[in-house]
Amino acid sequence: MLQRCILLALVLCVSASADFDWTKNERSSFYYGTFPTGFSWGAGTSAYQTEGAWNIDGKGISIWDVFAHKKGKIFSNDTGDSSCEGYYKFKDDITLMKDMKLNHYRFSISWPRILPSGLKSEHINEKGIKYYDELINMLLENKITPVVTLYHWDLPQVLQEKYGGWQNVSMVNYFNDFANLCFERFGNRVKYWITFNNPWSIAVEGFETGEHAPGLKLKGTGAYKAAHHIIKAHAKVWHTYDVQWRSKQKGLVGISLTADWGEPVDITNQRDIEAAERYIQFYLGWFATPIFNGDYPQVMKDYIGRKSGQQGLGASRLPVFSSQEKSYIKGTCDFLGLGHFTTRYVTQKNYPSGLGDSYFTDRDLAELVDPQWPDPGSEWLYSVPWGFRRLLNFVKTQYGNPMIYVTENGVSEKMLCTDLCDNWRMQYFKDYINEMLKAIKDGVNVKGYTAWSLLDNFEWDEGFSERFGLYYVDFRNKNKPRYPKASVQFYKRIISSNGFPNQREVESWKRKSVETCSSSNQLLAADPLIGHMEMVTEIVVPTVCTLCILLSAVFLMFLLRGRL
Ligand code: NOJ
Repeated sequence: MLQRCILLALVLCVSASADFDWTKNERSSFYYGTFPTGFSWGAGTSAYQTEGAWNIDGKGISIWDVFAHKKGKIFSNDTGDSSCEGYYKFKDDITLMKDMKLNHYRFSISWPRILPSGLKSEHINEKGIKYYDELINMLLENKITPVVTLYHWDLPQVLQEKYGGWQNVSMVNYFNDFANLCFERFGNRVKYWITFNNPWSIAVEGFETGEHAPGLKLKGTGAYKAAHHIIKAHAKVWHTYDVQWRSKQKGLVGISLTADWGEPVDITNQRDIEAAERYIQFYLGWFATPIFNGDYPQVMKDYIGRKSGQQGLGASRLPVFSSQEKSYIKGTCDFLGLGHFTTRYVTQKNYPSGLGDSYFTDRDLAELVDPQWPDPGSEWLYSVPWGFRRLLNFVKTQYGNPMIYVTENGVSEKMLCTDLCDNWRMQYFKDYINEMLKAIKDGVNVKGYTAWSLLDNFEWDEGFSERFGLYYVDFRNKNKPRYPKASVQFYKRIISSNGFPNQREVESWKRKSVETCSSSNQLLAADPLIGHMEMVTEIVVPTVCTLCILLSAVFLMFLLRGRL
């Protein structure tokens, strides 16, 4: 009996400390429970996507201003020129955040708004500094922690034109100067810094597919080179903070990496398992492995090296870190920001070298989706909550269980959808947040969650055609009014309960959240009418009055002439 007890205890101990085994986990069960005390709930936006005021108060031009102004680059030729007018409406937006009881707000600083030519040595735009000062101060007055991204894709255009932007290693020092200025001016109040947002996208969509600014298609080389400089720039900024500011300001510096989960099509097939592993290594590992472990993932070095050899190149298209650089880069992360939206099934697929080598063909894999997965908005975004838990556990085991802040997670709907009772978003948040809770129970060190996004905003090459917001923004109306979707109420309930207290309560949340949104639907439906009335008062009435005055003057003149 005693032996049996000891054996049972041993088995329990081993299974408690073992890594998460997803083959043994029920995918669809819901877990009722709450998050650790102090867990931080937030929402996010970025400068170019929401601020507008693209050429106001001394702001310089960014690569996104230029890219969006070129015809044919963005859906419907939309631009971020005015977007949500966040530059003017930030006080109203903080009221919305306060009402939701957010603990933190993630936003980004536009580099050209405070350094119009990109260079600290040339000109600091104090009006830009003042805008961010006021935003930060007001957040703090409302007990909302600012989480600040230094680079959410809007490089000063001058740096692109003069140096080729992230293709050039000189960006490392320019970015460091910009970051240092932000630490100097805002670091007494900002304690959470994110160097880069989603560098995968900057590299691949900016320099490989050209779908994003600066729109270059340097297949098979451009993305690797951009990523190499971004990783170096991140490390330099972390060291700058560490040496010059940490002891005074006591803040944290991390990076926000975005990745899908990749699941093998056939979990019993070794080639599929390896293909799925490659999918994640080429996505997340590309940036996370140097930052946590000092160098690129071995599988990237092997595959890109071999393919470069087959192309007859003397060296790998994947740049190399010197041993000094490796140790300088390793460990430069106080927390990992993780963005996650969706999942893919992955299978092995050979791409013979020489047939248009690219980042995508280097991986030797194919991506598949399950047609049953819900996809309410963006073409690429399928709701697959269980992938989130797997990705979080992957981070835990690969990078030594770092402190994680989820910096982006959410779902979109199409532009024409004006239904504020967004059932699909409530379902997405409920299931994804629940998988995050399960991951915390697995031992993953997640400290906060940021819903993407606070507002509908400029969704890059998709313009305003995809809406990620908790708040609907009426872009047809020049005042850009915000209307709460039902998911605002739903997220508010998750926040106030710090999770999912019990089945009875949680099951009533959707119904209760929808109750309030029908009145918002009516308000939104009346908006074109309001817009019409505004046009009448602002344009028609003054024009008619002026005409009347003119006509009366002419009439009077005639009368007087007749009398004389
Ligand atoms: C990640 C990007 O960082 C963000 O700007 C974008 O809106 C979301 N993905 C949704 O596509």
